[in-house]
Amino acid sequence: MFGGDVLAVLTIRKLPDPILTQKAKRIRHIDKELLKLADDMLETMHDANGVGIAGNQVGILQQIAVIQLTDEDEPLILINPEITMREGERHVEEGCLSIPGYRGLVRRSLKVKLRALDKKGKLLRIEAEELLAQAFEHETDHLNGKLYIDHLVSRDKLWKIPPDSAE
Ligand code: NI
Repeated sequence: MFGGDVLAVLTIRKLPDPILTQKAKRIRHIDKELLKLADDMLETMHDANGVGIAGNQVGILQQIAVIQLTDEDEPLILINPEITMREGERHVEEGCLSIPGYRGLVRRSLKVKLRALDKKGKLLRIEAEELLAQAFEHETDHLNGKLYIDHLVSRDKLWKIPPDSAE
């Protein structure tokens, strides 16, 4: 957290909000405002019981995403993230904070490599499998204006879930 600023829970944009289908812009400067945004995004994600959230989803068209799979993991702040390698394919269940009340079966990679800047501007290269790979693909998709429903195994593989289920 940054210098005693109060964290804010931001409004999560939901379908059919057009911002979810727009491409986020590359970030050129990492400044105090951006770091505050990253902290607020983490707060918003935790508040919604999510494991990742991207700029578009909080109304900011900049290439920033945060991911934290479990309480034990360090939160990842990813600036200008790009998938540089994908390998294999698997079918996996997925949900999204911007599409509440639904889950779907999607095609994802077995393994990915991601390149991004961290909050200090340092280049990160991370190789990931399973849930982390899925989160990398899901969040970089958001920044490219794509949603998991673009990757459904088939059109009928989207179903409703009870309103209070975790994402
Ligand atoms: Ni999402």
